[in-house]
Amino acid sequence: MLPWVILYNAMSLDGRITGFDADVELYYELASKLDVDAVLMGSNTVLMGFGVKPGETLEESEEAFKPRAEDPDDHRPLLVVPDSKGRIRIWSEILKMPYIKDVLVLCSRSTPIEYLNFLDERYISYLVVGYQHVDLENALEELNTEFGVKKIRVDSGGTLNGILLREGLADEVHLLIHPELVGGITPNSIFQAPDLKDEYHTIKLQLASMEKIKVDIIYLKYKILNEVLK
Ligand SMILES: NC(=O)c1ccc[n+]([C@@H]2O[C@H](COP(=O)([O-])OP(=O)(O)OC[C@H]3O[C@@H](n4cnc5c(N)ncnc54)[C@H](OP(=O)(O)O)[C@@H]3O)[C@@H](O)[C@H]2O)c1
Repeated sequence: MLPWVILYNAMSLDGRITGFDADVELYYELASKLDVDAVLMGSNTVLMGFGVKPGETLEESEEAFKPRAEDPDDHRPLLVVPDSKGRIRIWSEILKMPYIKDVLVLCSRSTPIEYLNFLDERYISYLVVGYQHVDLENALEELNTEFGVKKIRVDSGGTLNGILLREGLADEVHLLIHPELVGGITPNSIFQAPDLKDEYHTIKLQLASMEKIKVDIIYLKYKILNEVLK
């Protein structure tokens, strides 16, 4: 069975997800209330968030090469990152994030063996699912069966969101709409995917709730009507 997947994004009034002054504190405060078992974060989002280039390393302490103790009473979510090209090399920094209990990397058959060794040396868990890219459906299935992940929040840009949406793997879309207009022509929306050939195959949603937060931020929760996708 697949876990329940919530796409969660902050955006400007004109639908852009970068280039505006997102209320980060509010974003994480509301995110924590979703009470998820895992957070799925795109590798670009991780690299951008930590301000590092693909493959860049940072100084590591000896602790980075030791196994980490598991705490069954730690109910923080697991951070799951598809990184089939082995671009993220700063896992000990990522593990310092206060709102995650551990990390799991999603790799594929195309992932360099050197990268899998890099992860092994640091006791970073990974799953190999898919050939060229990570097979997200199988990965989600395995997250549920092997790691007990029933509900997952996606903190990602339009690329990973786009794949999940087009593959029919997302269940809800949550948006924090900020009172700013950004403009621009770069692809920068919550849903990046090849253009549709007609308007009949759009994804239909149902409004689940609408809330005004603080003075002028709107929090929208939509449920995806999956049967319309088929
Ligand atoms: N406003 C917000 O709420 C918000 C939230 C998060 C991020 N962001 C912004 O979004 C931007 C990053 O977004 P992005 O769209 O560039 O990248 P992204 O969604 O963060 O990362 C792309 C992910 O998609 C995976 N992927 C690509 N093709 C795939 C395929 N065919 N099958 C399976 N997986 C595939 C990649 O895995 P591989 O590495 O294995 O290819 C990677 O993990 C950043 O600027 C960030 O700041 C904004």
